Amino acid sequence: MQAKLTLGIESSCDETSAAVLRGGRELLSNVISTQIPVHQKFGGVVPEIASRKHIVNIMPVIDEAVRQAGVTLADIDQVAVTYGPGLVGALLVGVSAAKGLAFALDKPLIGVNHLEGHIFANFLAAPELEPPFMALVVSGGHTALVDVRDYNTFHLMGQTRDDAAGEAFDKIARVMGLPYPGGPRIDALAQEGQPTIDFPEALVGKGNYEFSFSGLKSAVLNYINSEKMKGHELNKKDIAASFQHAVIDVLVGKAFEAVKEAGRDTLVLAGGVAANSGLEARLRAEAARQHVKFYYPSKILCTDNAAMIACRGYYQAEAGHYSDLYLNAVPGLDLEER
Ligand code: KG4
Ligand code: ZN
Repeated sequence: MQAKLTLGIESSCDETSAAVLRGGRELLSNVISTQIPVHQKFGGVVPEIASRKHIVNIMPVIDEAVRQAGVTLADIDQVAVTYGPGLVGALLVGVSAAKGLAFALDKPLIGVNHLEGHIFANFLAAPELEPPFMALVVSGGHTALVDVRDYNTFHLMGQTRDDAAGEAFDKIARVMGLPYPGGPRIDALAQEGQPTIDFPEALVGKGNYEFSFSGLKSAVLNYINSEKMKGHELNKKDIAASFQHAVIDVLVGKAFEAVKEAGRDTLVLAGGVAANSGLEARLRAEAARQHVKFYYPSKILCTDNAAMIACRGYYQAEAGHYSDLYLNAVPGLDLEER
């Protein structure tokens, strides 16, 4: 039997994306239409504008993904789509398009959790990767440690109690007058600065896999305000380096503790913040020191894309986890035990 063709669709935030995957790992196309320039002038994603842009872009992006894959819509065996978490109006565009296609083509529909998708980006980046492994998921909306026991069994070790790591990056950047999205800007500045300022790290106790970044965020904001009040010129490079150092310290410490606790020999990094060069470098060095195998996706597979959704959808379908045509967007969908 021919390997299945999965069409993946992603529209949870500010990228409209469609991808075609053959079997579980062979990526035939991954088209991403980003709205970042549109939202930049507002300093962040404007949900209503995002939905409208998705509506305009979704069908051309799907057509382009199918064309680049060298197939036709009639060849598609199943349709996988992000149904949460994300912006409700944005999610609805992808979900509606996927439902319409699944109905018209008479093919199965698979609703995918966006965060599980981020983890599965690693399977596309590393063909040899197999569960079990520990996953550190760091995105704009989530920060979590997930023990991936097999393709469809996940155990949530812990997650953030307040802000996500990416959210903290974006807020600090905004206060420093840097454009949206702030993560890559802070990353670049941090590479030129020194972590000379001691910002607090929260919940660092052993055996605690929860995160908290709101205290760190406040500490950085207070520091910036007090420097401004004193009339000092902000040393943005050192502030960025110090903030990033504090975030990375916590993420790296907890990730390797979780690896040990669960008895795993492999750690994977996932989510938009996985594109952070400092985080990737620290995890790689620590993995080598502790003899842990370490994987992270290429930049294009780290940030939001439909290839990871198609991959997650494929393995979900292999276990018979399909959706029906009543599938709805669930903006607050969380990472759960599965
Ligand atoms: O996974 P993602 O594309 O969207 C969500 O699902 O949230 O993550 C976006 C987040 C943003 O907060 C962005 O600032 C952050 O990932 N990000 C980074 C870097 N590149 C993207 N954060 C730190 N360093 C980076 N290089
Ligand atoms: Zn994401």
